Amino acid sequence: MTQAQTEEFKAGLDGVIAGESKICLIDGDNRRLSYRGYNVADLVKYSSFEETAYLLIKGYLPTPDELSAFKKALIEARQIPTQILDILALVPVKTSPMDMFRTIISTLSQYDPEVDSNTPEANFNKAIRLIAQAPIIIAAYHRLRHKLKPIEAKKDPSSSLAANFLYMLTGEEADEYAQKVFDICLILHADHCFNASTFTARVTAATLSDMHSAVTSAIGALKGPLHGGANQEVMELLLKVNSLDNVDGYINKMFEEGKKIPGFGHRVYRNCEDPRATILRECSRELGIRNKNTKWFEISEAISQIVVKRAEEKKKPIYPNVDFYSASTYHVLGIDTQLFTPIFAMSRMAGWCAHIIEQHANNRLIRPQAHYLGEKDLNYLEISKR
Ligand code: ACO
Repeated sequence: MTQAQTEEFKAGLDGVIAGESKICLIDGDNRRLSYRGYNVADLVKYSSFEETAYLLIKGYLPTPDELSAFKKALIEARQIPTQILDILALVPVKTSPMDMFRTIISTLSQYDPEVDSNTPEANFNKAIRLIAQAPIIIAAYHRLRHKLKPIEAKKDPSSSLAANFLYMLTGEEADEYAQKVFDICLILHADHCFNASTFTARVTAATLSDMHSAVTSAIGALKGPLHGGANQEVMELLLKVNSLDNVDGYINKMFEEGKKIPGFGHRVYRNCEDPRATILRECSRELGIRNKNTKWFEISEAISQIVVKRAEEKKKPIYPNVDFYSASTYHVLGIDTQLFTPIFAMSRMAGWCAHIIEQHANNRLIRPQAHYLGEKDLNYLEISKR
């Protein structure tokens, strides 16, 4: 490695521009996140997850006809092969829903009619199928592992992906506000530029591998607790704290032990709160009030205050990220904690597919170098002499 290369090295690729994209812009200094130029704060107010998915994948907001055709295609794709249902029934119940999801998305490729085609048309069709199939797989496995029969997806054109997912979990129609909040969660998690899982998807796609392979790699990356896995860890923390009286003691101890607090800190939002957390805080608050269950929001707020304060004292500021208030929101919606990260994946599927399509459209193999720190020029020692 030359001196110049050594100087360029950034641990964790922090701040490194690793490619070009027109999909998502994060303006960390101004707490602004936009998809294809549209502020997510506007998308959560005026749009839907379906329209946002179209925007991410196609690059522009659809006309009414384009949106209804897209929604129709998504609803028609609300089915999984019976063989997949059979396989799901064989998955050991101890398998986490996230591990199941990675395996089943990979397996789904074997039933996809366009698996090996990377044309823009085939990729668009596959994106529709993956976005539509993901909620079915997650809901079906959840029910199977609780010894319940999976519920068939609704084909009613008025049933949004968000509403249908909540329905498939319980068999009951969620109320309008719950559907709206869940739709907002899906919009907010749909993309986030070159985050770890999306970058993973692009690395796989850049070898000209197929969409299912790229998405499968992305799911593996999302699972980790430093990335999407944090929302589950946030809920586990809330459940352990369990009371406002315990917050200070619990969080102070975590700081003293040098533990990371899940749901705080972000590589890109260094000096401010993640704008998605700001929106989700309001969802969590309002949902708690409507459902007469404000406990989890209140504990979250108390944790947030102490974490921000302690971190500021250390001169290492951290603020809530997207995973923090999504935990209390999903919990009050009645969703099982183990489904939190798969739900993240189900929403990010739109962003992953958009990035895979963009990568395939203007591809170059992604192949960085390493700063070599190992030994050099050693003499090989015969095994009997070691
Ligand atoms: N709790 C306590 N301290 C923290 C936290 C946290 N959650 N996050 C960062 N810090 C501290 C670090 O310990 C470090 O201090 P140090 O230099 O004394 O060791 C300093 O802040 C800088 O943090 P880094 O770990 O260097 O930041 P990095 O950009 O590498 O990591 C990350 C970002 C992984 C998100 C980190 O903040 C973290 O682990 N957070 C908790 C997990 C989490 O919520 N992940 C979800 C992120 S959002 C998403 O992926 C969808």
